[in-house]
Amino acid sequence: MSNFKKLLVECGSNSHSVHIGAGAVAHIGKWLLDQPSKRAFILVDQKLRAPREMLITALQRSGWEISEISVHAGEQLKDFHSIYPLYDRLVRGKADRDSVLFALGGGTIGDAAGFIASTYLRGIPWVGVPTTLLAQVDSSVGGKTGINHLKGKNLIGTFHQPSLVICDTAFLNTLGPRDILSGFGEMIKYGLIFDPKFFQFLKKNSDQILNLEPAVLSLAIQKCLQWKAKIVRKDALDRTGIREALNFGHTFGHALESKTQYRRFQHGEAVIWGMRFALALSHVKKILPSPIREEVDFFLSQLHVPPLPENIIFPEFFKSMTQDKKAREGKIHFVLLKNLGQAVSLSGITYKDLQSAYKLLILGSQF
Ligand SMILES: NC(=O)c1ccc[n+]([C@@H]2O[C@H](COP(=O)([O-])OP(=O)(O)OC[C@H]3O[C@@H](n4cnc5c(N)ncnc54)[C@H](O)[C@@H]3O)[C@@H](O)[C@H]2O)c1
Ligand SMILES: [Zn+2]
Repeated sequence: MSNFKKLLVECGSNSHSVHIGAGAVAHIGKWLLDQPSKRAFILVDQKLRAPREMLITALQRSGWEISEISVHAGEQLKDFHSIYPLYDRLVRGKADRDSVLFALGGGTIGDAAGFIASTYLRGIPWVGVPTTLLAQVDSSVGGKTGINHLKGKNLIGTFHQPSLVICDTAFLNTLGPRDILSGFGEMIKYGLIFDPKFFQFLKKNSDQILNLEPAVLSLAIQKCLQWKAKIVRKDALDRTGIREALNFGHTFGHALESKTQYRRFQHGEAVIWGMRFALALSHVKKILPSPIREEVDFFLSQLHVPPLPENIIFPEFFKSMTQDKKAREGKIHFVLLKNLGQAVSLSGITYKDLQSAYKLLILGSQF
């Protein structure tokens, strides 16, 4: 057991541990000894055969009684119509307030399970067993749960901390290269906004991480989650703005995802474009020294992210960003970089700033 890395997410009475490493799920029973009952309901991505077997075997070995709810994972799961029948399964299975809902899958399974757990009987415990890199480095920790509304992603949701999170890195072996790159994009974000040493580590070890080399991978996941846990500890309910730094690369990234109907880019790939754009904008706003922008942008440009689509007309794209309901008088705010490891939130970004940043990103010069 000592081979696993452990970290504590401190949120008062909602504090919980996270265990990271290849094969961690086999030990799950030992980390659940304080649960009042051993009745498990598992919301599982139906694609995941081996992880499902491993989780069920480990829980049964520790005396858990199991009911399984197998679903098609993906964004369409995060919808009222998709999750309503899942409450039915809990009701019919007589889940009570001591029953535990397990989420076995990527971020969509975690977001949906967390939401159901926080609303069923006004809240039952849940355990996250994330199986994508993105979910292991980001979405599984922080307690944000949610489903989508026609008008936007994650518009309906709650805060509900899990009781335990297991990041079994062996589960990641079946991910495709783009899924891995997507998680890597979020990892780089942590380095850029909080930790220059970690950024250099990621840069130096990018091949090992993209090839899922176990020791480097667990270390990198642990580092990301340490940063996420630190921010969550300071601002569990996302009220003070501290968590805003985590949106680095997301303003442009989200706009790109939505303009391409969530089909062209994996989330983390869009975030990589978003970070490149934010770096260019940081330079336009004269807050980031050129050599740093160039070093980071060169590294990001070497990752195999799909190119920006040719059918997006960027002047219109920027107009729609600055005319968005969140924009004030045609100005928006952005998380930018002042230095490696130092993010700042800057307001008053204009259409012209966005245009200049785009020119710098694409042509290598503003003019
Ligand atoms: N709650 C938060 O704080 C937070 C943070 C970031 C993202 N999110 C949410 O996370 C979601 C994206 O997460 P995601 O990319 O993990 O989504 P996902 O659950 O859709 O998984 C992506 C794909 O990978 C497959 N998959 C899962 N595990 C696999 C494995 N081990 N091997 C092979 N394939 C596997 C899934 O079947 C799916 O096709 C979004 O809905 C986003 O809003 C939430
Ligand atoms: Zn993200």
